[in-house]
Amino acid sequence: MDAAYRRVNGTHGTDGEQQNSGSKRRGSMYLEEETDQKSEVISFIFSLKEEVGALAKALRLFEDKGINLMHIESRPSRMNKDQYEFFISLDSSASQVLDDVIDGLRTQISGHVHELTRSKEKNTVPWFPNDIQDLDRFANQILSYGSELDADHPGFTDPVYRSRRKEFADIAYNYRHGQVIPKVEYTDVEKATWGTVFTELKTLYPTHACREHNRVFPLLEKYCGYRQDNIPQLEDVSRFLQSCTGFRLRPVAGLLSSRDFLAGLAFRVFHSTQYIRHSSKPTYTPEPDICHELLGHVPLFADPSFAQFSQEIGLASLGAPDEYIEKLATVYWFTVEFGLCKQGSEIKAYGAGLLSSFGELQYCLSEKPQIMAFDPDKTCVQKYPITEYQPVYFVAESFEDAKDKVRKFAGTIPKPFSVRYNPYTQSVEVLDNTQQLRNLADSINSEMGKLCEAMRKLE
Ligand SMILES: [Fe+2]
Repeated sequence: MDAAYRRVNGTHGTDGEQQNSGSKRRGSMYLEEETDQKSEVISFIFSLKEEVGALAKALRLFEDKGINLMHIESRPSRMNKDQYEFFISLDSSASQVLDDVIDGLRTQISGHVHELTRSKEKNTVPWFPNDIQDLDRFANQILSYGSELDADHPGFTDPVYRSRRKEFADIAYNYRHGQVIPKVEYTDVEKATWGTVFTELKTLYPTHACREHNRVFPLLEKYCGYRQDNIPQLEDVSRFLQSCTGFRLRPVAGLLSSRDFLAGLAFRVFHSTQYIRHSSKPTYTPEPDICHELLGHVPLFADPSFAQFSQEIGLASLGAPDEYIEKLATVYWFTVEFGLCKQGSEIKAYGAGLLSSFGELQYCLSEKPQIMAFDPDKTCVQKYPITEYQPVYFVAESFEDAKDKVRKFAGTIPKPFSVRYNPYTQSVEVLDNTQQLRNLADSINSEMGKLCEAMRKLE
């Protein structure tokens, strides 16, 4: 069975390089107010209850420590209506005494304090990629390299398979955004493994897969070389996806942290493996492989509603605290990996872990597992095994409905800002000042104009 998707459930916080490679954020609202290269700006937001003298009292804490503020602005708090938030920037030379000031704010002023740096210390907003190019920064922050196999891996004692895995890992390791994904000449043994998986699963799709999967699959056969005797190339598939929904594939050298993997989805980038499972067990893989990616994930990423739903999870993860990353990874697990959905009076599979496993695809629609309605508040805390069939599945009413629910859930994640993806610049905009909101309003206004005009013409 196809079950070890630790990629989205791995340990967190391995971004040593992220922390050390400088804290400038191109296009960021927060750290671009640097005055020179040597002196970095520390920025943070704190909230104050609306009472006379509260701000003066807070500012006195800075004054007492001899800290000069470089920038300050205020706004009503998004999280608490009777409070105000203050955005403050100061020179990093003040960092030695800043902890005392932050302690003072917390204990004497009773406000929330959010430090907007890339440091992953307590109460900070973790760094997140700003534009699609930034994904290069963590592409190699992998928890294990693709060629390192566990002792119980079917290919552990096969030197040919191990060296092949190293080749694939090296391709991904050297890949940078914008490059063409190198084509791979798959061996006859590899093609035979693919052929077995492809043929078996294809017999189940008409009855077990959701209609979106069944709609896209023939297109992949027509345009991307999906055939029993051919393993499609990631580059061809990625181009196809971009033409459908803007989603693209990016080769990955090993296991990414949940945070990094989910961040990719915010940019409609899916980190994909390129190697194939070991030939001795074609119906089993202890980790995602190209069969899982191409047969399970890819068809759904070509569907606009599903693409939006997946991106919504990714956007929710940006800057989220670690405990919420774990919750979002669990939501991802029970939807993108193991989700079921209602289609008319029937239930069908849309999760990639199901659509790439002959055994579990039949099991999930049998009487055996427990079926529950998808509700992110409940789904996010559901425990699950990774090496056996799932005892519990969650059923979505539709991708639209699931997306709305995830969006509401995302609103409960404690972050001092909202984000929006700008597809024109392929970057994430942090919506935390009036100019950003004005830009968003202008963009919505323009879209509304187009909608009204089109409706008029239809009448
Ligand atoms: Fe997956």
